[in-house]
Amino acid sequence: MFLFIICGFAICLFVIVILFAFPQFSPIPYFPSNKKDMPLILKALNLQDDQTIIDLGAGDGIVVFEGALLALQKGLNTKFIALEINPILVFILHIHKLFHPNKKNIKIVMGDMFTYRFSSLISNRYSLTTFYLYISPWLIEKALKNVSSQFPKATYVSYFYPIKKLKEKKKVKGVHFVYSY
Ligand SMILES: C[S@@+](CC[C@H](N)C(=O)[O-])C[C@H]1O[C@@H](n2cnc3c(N)ncnc32)[C@H](O)[C@@H]1O
Repeated sequence: MFLFIICGFAICLFVIVILFAFPQFSPIPYFPSNKKDMPLILKALNLQDDQTIIDLGAGDGIVVFEGALLALQKGLNTKFIALEINPILVFILHIHKLFHPNKKNIKIVMGDMFTYRFSSLISNRYSLTTFYLYISPWLIEKALKNVSSQFPKATYVSYFYPIKKLKEKKKVKGVHFVYSY
């Protein structure tokens, strides 16, 4: 029995290491946005009624959960979508969502930001949609290509790295830069 538990534990550990360490499973490593920059990030997201905020590669969901809390405090009906490819992080996101006071406005989606089609979640491609990105700079364009073709009027907030293809509206310095487009 003891051996059985040890083997189960070792297999789980192995799967976790594989999922986090290999680029085939996680082409962009998991680093959460810095908590100290959260006020700047939330300000840049400019929460509004009937806006949808999509975190491309949501990680543990710090931006989505803090944003949803702020929206609730402000009495806003802002919707949040956490798109994440790593099944372990998706599991953590679901657990966190269960206990969130604004869970009705949060959707957790497992998918690939480079190919994901949002039409099943958002029918109006001209609706107020804001994408949050904290991803490797050499993959920003690839992600942008997928989402900008689906949402021609979207706005963007990028953490740490600028989106070179877009015209910058604002750049704010915290621990790291927060760029608005
Ligand atoms: C730098 S972390 C940012 C996490 C979160 N957005 C934040 O700011 O705290 C990047 C996240 O993107 C996820 N990711 C990597 N490739 C992805 C893909 N193709 N589709 C969706 N998520 C992906 C990783 O698993 C990781 O959690």
